[in-house]
Amino acid sequence: MAITILKGAIVSARSLGKLDITEKGYLVAENGVITGVFPVLPEHYAGAPVEDFGDALILQSFADLHLHAPQYPMLGMGMDLPLLDWLNAYAFPTEARFADPDYARTIYRELAHELISHGTTRVCMFSSLHTDATLILMDELEKAGVTGFVGKVNMDRNNAPGVLEETTEESKQETLRWLEACQDFTHVKPMLTPRFTPSCTDELMAFLGKLAAERDLPVQSHLSENSAEIAWVRQLHPDCRQYWETYAKYGLWNDRTVMAHCVWSDERERKAMRDAGVTVVHCADSNQNICSGVAPVRVMLNEGLKVALGSDIAGGDHLDMFDVVASAIRASKARRMMDGWQTDFLTVPEGWYLGTSAGAAYFGEQPGFAPGNPLHAIVLADDRLPQPHPLTPAERLERCVYRRQPGAVRAVWSDGRKVFSAE
Ligand code: GUN
Ligand code: FE
Repeated sequence: MAITILKGAIVSARSLGKLDITEKGYLVAENGVITGVFPVLPEHYAGAPVEDFGDALILQSFADLHLHAPQYPMLGMGMDLPLLDWLNAYAFPTEARFADPDYARTIYRELAHELISHGTTRVCMFSSLHTDATLILMDELEKAGVTGFVGKVNMDRNNAPGVLEETTEESKQETLRWLEACQDFTHVKPMLTPRFTPSCTDELMAFLGKLAAERDLPVQSHLSENSAEIAWVRQLHPDCRQYWETYAKYGLWNDRTVMAHCVWSDERERKAMRDAGVTVVHCADSNQNICSGVAPVRVMLNEGLKVALGSDIAGGDHLDMFDVVASAIRASKARRMMDGWQTDFLTVPEGWYLGTSAGAAYFGEQPGFAPGNPLHAIVLADDRLPQPHPLTPAERLERCVYRRQPGAVRAVWSDGRKVFSAE
């Protein structure tokens, strides 16, 4: 049996707002599955090799539940445009380049490495509409050690004719061809990905809903991100009272559905998410960059919705999840100030929970380093930072969330495997 024992200052998010802390502790996994966090190494592990990281923090790795792989080359661009203009001017032309498999290979290899070296080991990710590039993306993620779900994007209307387009028939056939080829992957699985309602004909939505049911596939898309988008959806589906119903109508709305943004979801739409068990992905950077709005995350949590975080690159301008956690916290404070101090903001332990345990829950894990979870962990060295006073592990975690520290991630485990080491 393979035994992994990591020693250090172990901090994990046991529940929303609660950290479990074991200084000089031992995080143990057998065959890649966590058996526990121990202040003293249990007798029966005596003699097994221990990787001793001294005083370094041992943390859960991140789950980024919404990002667009083919937008990686345009990070930080077009940020003065609102969503629909930004899609046409930047996102669609950039995604079009992934018709070229060589280009896809180069970019996706870099992306996969950047994710792992920043401690992101689980994703729900959009590819482009290209089947071959999507398979290349899955291959590069798998090789680098990233786990989770990837979707070939479906977009058979309101796309970029001559640049980035597919007919309804092509979209269906290519989705089937892609699903066939996905069987070769172990850690990266397919997820159906209608881009958003304006991008998909009713016929295509119905096809995808049927496919999701027949093959038990999860679904990801965008919901209520921007007011012009919402008005457009209303025009396209006059029979639906609200945006979410355009997904529900076609069987794309259940407890494995992931919906990015939900900035403008009102009480009724939020109730529909809670009742169905849909996971909301809050993407604070993107929402601010392209002026979509400030999502009411605290209210969603109070109402019992499942909420995780996403970098949403390249609406978001970076994929470092420490920053994404900090941005979610800042957004909750902006919301509090806008709402007349009526709602609470997210504390650091709450933000940390959303970036780690809440995302991991989508993959069936229990919060924190719970026994039975696959080992997803990072080692973080903060010893190069000045010490204002002797810091507790919780203070150190807070500082790591806020302070950008290039190279601070020293090692990463993903699904039990050591996939990155800075040495
Ligand atoms: N809605 C439809 N496509 C996109 C996209 O690529 N990014 C964002 N942020 N929203 C979208
Ligand atoms: Fe997005």
